[in-house]
Amino acid sequence: MTGEEMYADRINSLPPYLFAAIDEAKAEVMNKGVDVIDLGVGDPDQPTPQHIIDSMSEAIYNPNYHRYPSYNGMYDFRNAAADWCKENRGFEVDPDTQTLTMIGLKEGIAHSPLAFINPGDTALVPNPAYPVYKIGTLFAGGEAYTMPLLEENGFLPDLDAIPKEVCDRTKMMFLNYPNNPTGAVADHKFFEEVVDFARDNDIVVVHDNAYSDIVFDGYESPSFLNVDGAMDVGVELYSLSKTYNMTGWRIAFAVGNSDIIKGIGKVKSNVDSGAFEAVQKAGVTALTSSQQCVSDMNKIYKDRRDALLKGLNKLGLDVKPQKATFYTWAPVPEGYNSIEFSKLLLEDAGIVATPGVGFGDYGDGYIRFALTQTVERINQAVARMEELEL
Ligand SMILES: Cc1ncc(COP(=O)(O)O)c(C=O)c1O
Repeated sequence: MTGEEMYADRINSLPPYLFAAIDEAKAEVMNKGVDVIDLGVGDPDQPTPQHIIDSMSEAIYNPNYHRYPSYNGMYDFRNAAADWCKENRGFEVDPDTQTLTMIGLKEGIAHSPLAFINPGDTALVPNPAYPVYKIGTLFAGGEAYTMPLLEENGFLPDLDAIPKEVCDRTKMMFLNYPNNPTGAVADHKFFEEVVDFARDNDIVVVHDNAYSDIVFDGYESPSFLNVDGAMDVGVELYSLSKTYNMTGWRIAFAVGNSDIIKGIGKVKSNVDSGAFEAVQKAGVTALTSSQQCVSDMNKIYKDRRDALLKGLNKLGLDVKPQKATFYTWAPVPEGYNSIEFSKLLLEDAGIVATPGVGFGDYGDGYIRFALTQTVERINQAVARMEELEL
C-alpha cells in the first residue's frame, strides 16, 4: 500500500496545505538570491523576555520536573493562570476545577471537539479563521458549519443567520477575538448575544483568546467570561505564545466552565502526558511577573502597524488601523484574487504575505501581513510595493 490507499479518509480529505505551498514558493524565490521580506507567519520575531528564560534555566535542573507532568497541569501554573485572569481579565476561576494546562492552543483546539462532537454533530466555525477549528471538528467526525465573517458586520458572525435546523444539531461553536486573520475585535454586547444563543441552543462555546494582550491605542479586549452566564456555557483559551514571544515553548491554558474543562481534560489525559513542568514553571514566571514586557512589545508592533498602514494607504488600499493582533488585513487591489496578489508580491517584490483564502473562502479578496519584521524592513516592503505600480 502506498499514498492515498495507505491513509485514512480524514487525511485524504484534507484540503491542500496552502502554507506548505507558500513555503515552497518562498524557498524557490530565495534560491534565486532574492532578499525576501517575510510578513507571512504569525510568529513573533523578538526573543522570549529574559526573566522567563532565566526561570526556565533554573527549573530545568530540578529533577522533579524531569518526570511525567500531571495531566491537568501543575497546580502552580493553573493557580498563576487563575490569578492572572483575576488581575488582567477581571473574572475568577477555581484553579482546581476551572483551569487546564495545554501544550499550546493548537493542541487544545484540535482536541476539544473530541470531547463534545459525535460523528454527524455540527460545530459552528468562523470563516476566515485559524484552520484548526475546522480540522479538529472534521477529525472528530463532525460537520463544520461555516459562519461567514464579513467586513460589513465588523468580521463578526451573524448568529441570526444560522438556520434553526443547524442550531438543533450543533454541539459547539468556535470564536476568536481579537481575531486572526482579520484583526477584528468583539465587544461585550456581542459576547452577551453569544451567551444567549449558546444557552438557547445548548451549545458549548470555545473562545480562543490567543491575542488577548496584543492591543494598541489604549484598547482593552474584553473577555467572553466576563459576560453574565458565560461560565455556564463556555471556556476561554489563552496562550503564552504571542503574549510573551513563547511560540516555541508550547504552553497555554483553558479556563471556564468546569464540565467543559473536565471533558477536554479527559481527552487530553488519553492522548498526551502534559506539558514539561519546567516550561510550566517558566509560564508561572511569565504570568506573575511585571507585564511591562507585554506593553514594550505592543509599542514595537504599533510602530510597525503604523508604518505598514501608511504605506498601504499610499498605495490606495483602504486599510483601517487594527486595534489588536499583529496582523494587518488588507483588501487586495482590483483585478486580483488573494492567491494572485500574494504571488505577485512574492515573485515581483520578494514579499511574503498570506493570501486570505488560506483561512477559508470568505478570506479571498484579502491579504494578511504579519507585523513580525522591523519598521525598516516594513518600509522596504512598502517601497517595493510602490514600484509594482498597482
Ligand atoms: C487564533 C489562533 N489560535 C491559536 C493559535 C495557536 O497558538 P499556540 O501557539 O498556543 O498553539 C494561533 C497561532 O497562530 C492562532 O492564530
